[in-house]
Amino acid sequence: MRLVFIASLIGIASLAGVSGCSKTLSTSQKRGQACYSLNCYDCHEENQLGLIKAPPKLHKIFSHHNLPDGTTTATDESVREVIINGKRTMPAFNGRLSGGQIDDIIAYLHRR
Ligand code: HEC
Repeated sequence: MRLVFIASLIGIASLAGVSGCSKTLSTSQKRGQACYSLNCYDCHEENQLGLIKAPPKLHKIFSHHNLPDGTTTATDESVREVIINGKRTMPAFNGRLSGGQIDDIIAYLHRR
């Protein structure tokens, strides 16, 4: 009985895998996703610090012409600069993330 239950779970899991709902991420994007979860998620998805100006959602950030503040064009370079130098209440990640880690996060943000 238990075996049947497990077998059907595996069946459901493999169906979900071929349904096309899950996005396939490149290796760099997977590393970026992990790095994003550790360093960006708490503020940008949950506003866990309860900042008065809630950090903007970064979903589809590159499909808009400007970054959320409305004044800077959304490019890899402008996002890299925000990550390295921070912005107002957002902390700088200079020295805390390597150039490669920042590249991975940017690659991941292209898929969000
Ligand atoms: C402590 C909270 C906090 C963390 C951690 C944080 N951010 Fe932010 N972030 C903010 C806030 C607040 C803003 C809005 C800044 C403003 O415009 O006043 C922001 C803005 C941004 C913007 C938009 C800038 C613009 O010009 O509109 C980007 C892109 C961004 N963050 C990326 C990231 C990435 C990537 C990470 C992880 C490496 C990260 N942030 C980590 C709080 C945070």
